[in-house]
Amino acid sequence: MTVKASLSVPPPSSVPPLHVAIIMDGNGRWAKSRGLPRVAGHKKGADAVRAVVEAAPGLGVTHLTLFAFSSENWRRPEEEVSALMGLLRLYIRSELGRLAENGVRLSFIGDRARLDPDLVSLMADAEQKTRNNPGLNLIIAVNYGGRADIVQAARAFAAQVAGGQRTADSLTEDDLSGFLFTAGLPDPDVVIRTSGEQRISNFLLWQCGYSEFVFTDTLWPDFTPQELSRCLSQFQTRERRFGAVPA
Ligand code: IPE
Ligand code: IPE
Ligand code: MG
Repeated sequence: MTVKASLSVPPPSSVPPLHVAIIMDGNGRWAKSRGLPRVAGHKKGADAVRAVVEAAPGLGVTHLTLFAFSSENWRRPEEEVSALMGLLRLYIRSELGRLAENGVRLSFIGDRARLDPDLVSLMADAEQKTRNNPGLNLIIAVNYGGRADIVQAARAFAAQVAGGQRTADSLTEDDLSGFLFTAGLPDPDVVIRTSGEQRISNFLLWQCGYSEFVFTDTLWPDFTPQELSRCLSQFQTRERRFGAVPA
């Protein structure tokens, strides 16, 4: 008789995945309220990212997905877009060593086709250098849109059907998940949005099917590890039913 691997007892060190996704919003308002240019808010926002990434593993977070630039953010003035791309380059260049030291595995989701080639190679290099790290999975969403993600997944599946490898009616939910940019990642348990806005803004649409949402009025540059801890405490009070009746 063969024993299924899924029945085996997990090793004592294994922690259940806790995937936290954050819509980091409010940089512009933070700057405006201080009479500063919007870019100053984005710079301060990058400092908040550093602090949250360092604190996350201590709060039991195994996967942290950060929404850095949406597929709709190209609608912003060109100088703001290029400042955001510049900050991303700076973040990767200046943080990679430290992230690697802390065992962080860095990856990116989103469509890279429209990004500058030098940024794309920085991203690929960071992924390559950290791919075997055992610690926090840090996923940064750049030129990411939930609808675009589903469209590219549908195209990839359609190509397999056209190539005769699959039949159209063989597609399952798990299969479709496997075609998304987030293939292999657990769905977010909790989505946090800062700045008081209560909308999803085309973030992980498919993946958020059963996520809990926590909204805070704090603007992203003011977001601290303490605030992350408060958001996670709020999440812990939720009863997740996934369509079933309470136990
Ligand atoms: C979030 O802050 C950062 C990005 C969307 C890139 P915003 O720039 O959206 O700040 P607000 O919403 O204008 O205050
Ligand atoms: C969502 O914030 C995108 C990111 C945080 C990267 P936005 O500020 O772009 O969202 P809307 O336009 O207010 O919905
Ligand atoms: Mg905003």
